[in-house]
Amino acid sequence: MTEKRAQFATRLGVIATTVGSAVGLGNIWRFPYEAGVHGGGAFLLIDLFFIFIIGVPVVCAEFIIGRHTGANVRGAFKMLAPGKPWGIVSYLGILASILILSFYSVVAGWTLEYIGQSLSDFSGIHSPEGLHRQFDIFAQSNWRPAMWTVIFLLCNYLILSRGVQKGIEKMSNIMMPMLFVILIAFSINSLTMPSAAEGLSFLFKPDFSKVTPSVLIGGMGQAFFSLSLGLGCLITYSSYFKRETPLVKTAFITAGLDTLVALLAGIIIFPAVFTFGEEPAAGPKLVFEILPSIFSNLPGGMIWSTLFFVLLFLASLTSTISMSEISIAYFQEEFGMSRRKATWLNIGIAMVLGIICALSFGMLSDFTICGLTVFNLFDYLSSNILLPVGGLIISIFVGWVLDRAVVQRELVTVNPGRATIICVRLIVFCLRYLAPLCIAAVFIFGLGLF
Ligand code: PHE
Repeated sequence: MTEKRAQFATRLGVIATTVGSAVGLGNIWRFPYEAGVHGGGAFLLIDLFFIFIIGVPVVCAEFIIGRHTGANVRGAFKMLAPGKPWGIVSYLGILASILILSFYSVVAGWTLEYIGQSLSDFSGIHSPEGLHRQFDIFAQSNWRPAMWTVIFLLCNYLILSRGVQKGIEKMSNIMMPMLFVILIAFSINSLTMPSAAEGLSFLFKPDFSKVTPSVLIGGMGQAFFSLSLGLGCLITYSSYFKRETPLVKTAFITAGLDTLVALLAGIIIFPAVFTFGEEPAAGPKLVFEILPSIFSNLPGGMIWSTLFFVLLFLASLTSTISMSEISIAYFQEEFGMSRRKATWLNIGIAMVLGIICALSFGMLSDFTICGLTVFNLFDYLSSNILLPVGGLIISIFVGWVLDRAVVQRELVTVNPGRATIICVRLIVFCLRYLAPLCIAAVFIFGLGLF
């Protein structure tokens, strides 16, 4: 290691950056689309269970590993369990981060296209059917989605090569609060729509007859994806935390805000889906078809729409920066690469794979593996398999293998109150028993291994 490791400057910086990683397309694009495909309410319930009961403790586990070692994912396991197979989780995490970066950049690229379309007032097209066609024409044009993917990744390069603190922290502090405000405004607007009640009941009323194995797998995957959990992203970020950062509190705040944003997105999208007579199970393009229809019905729609897609683009950036940081820290610290070189390597691989994902909606739409396009395959494999497997290994490692004194020292603040002590006990219980059992159970039933 050559350079001194960076640290986040302020407490707000820690929260904003961790939330910045968690909040992104996962909440605003992926949550409504997955909830739509998987029937709404029951999916939400499974997602919430995995976020708060399983997710929060596993977030704490990643924080413990990261801050205790102050290293990248690979380095952390080398330090804690040298020569043992636990370190495999770091390779799975690096693989997942690159797969996610590839397909995520495609959707982030769509937001860039939609900033342009908003500025041109969607070429005067305002009917839902016209806006659908617009999306299809764009996605099937091949070169445009590919170009935006590349441009988005270049934006990542610019921020990442400037280092941790300056680039990431400043941006998160300004834009996260703005995003919240605008989401609240749009959800109030959706609540006044004619079919608001129908939309809300789709989202919030669980119909347990709809709980199929794929809903279980999907709900678990969404929780991990949305929390940026199971791939070492939070290990890497918490390696930059200071000693005073309260880990449990940070985990809860992150999960709470992350969930709030997803719920707001659902409250914005589903009333509109039913009001415009659309299909909730439209898949990845759902949000990009519905939002323009919402905006075009608002006074000053063009301005709202532009502002929204700019913020969504920025929210995607804070997430992709965090997933890139995993492999960049790894390349830098394990291979002694310069930051610039490590960043190029990461972004370069994602560009190649990202272009293939972008073409999955056009010329490669018939090219499928196990019935999935490359885009869907990368998403399924990373979110539904790699991240939960990573979470499983991390929870067992911190629950059973890591020295209990380390766990205590990292989780417990100075002079802990009764509530803190109970909370820490619950977290340890969850890491030892509940998390491994629940994740394994979903795999067994969900993938039909049983
Ligand atoms: N949690 C991010 C989102 O919801 C996506 C992400 C996944 C970020 C994995 C980092 C690592 O958009």
